[in-house]
Amino acid sequence: MHILDIVQNSITAGSTLISIEIVEDAREDLLTILVSDNGKGMTPELLENVWDPFVTTRNTRKVGLGIPLLKGAAEACGGRLDIKSAPGKGTTVKAEFVYSHIDRAPLGDIVGTILTLVVCNPEIDYVYTHTVNDKNFIFDTREIKKAISGLELNHPEVILWMKEYLSENIKNMYGSVL
Ligand SMILES: Nc1ncnc2c1ncn2[C@@H]1O[C@H](COP(=O)(O)OP(=O)(O)OP(=O)(O)O)[C@@H](O)[C@H]1O
Ligand SMILES: [Mg+2]
Repeated sequence: MHILDIVQNSITAGSTLISIEIVEDAREDLLTILVSDNGKGMTPELLENVWDPFVTTRNTRKVGLGIPLLKGAAEACGGRLDIKSAPGKGTTVKAEFVYSHIDRAPLGDIVGTILTLVVCNPEIDYVYTHTVNDKNFIFDTREIKKAISGLELNHPEVILWMKEYLSENIKNMYGSVL
């Protein structure tokens, strides 16, 4: 849910290319979620205020809950949230969690998350990179668009194919760990 929320911010910011990177590192006991976009970015003033949902009571800027909630979740798990952003340069949101922390939420249905994003916004390009220890998987919609020339990313057969492709590759990464 956090990933959907943070990527939704990127979509709202007018991004055409969004990178979602998940790194599960058992050795460092660290889970990192990195979302970078080429959207409109934030002014330093907005970036300062974005952490605090209650800032909205004092000015008219719309500041919501997505970022404060993710920050809370990361810090409750011995981690942190870091945002880099500049107007016209895009935004990078990096969330770190202690991997084995008892309060860390499971990654959840990551295949469903990625599919939802791709199918609901087929005009946006996504690069989804997932690393589990020494295994790595990259899913780049720009390459898929080339391979299915003529078809749309939300064509039922393409959706089914992507679902199987994502599931299979993610399962393979966990294979030797579980
Ligand atoms: N990737 C981004 N690019 C540009 N601006 C962003 C980005 N992410 C967040 N922001 C800015 O930070 C504000 C706060 O984001 P946050 O997700 O916390 O709340 P929201 O999106 O406004 O509301 P909610 O997530 O609760 O629906 C956004 O309204 C937007 O102005
Ligand atoms: Mg939001």
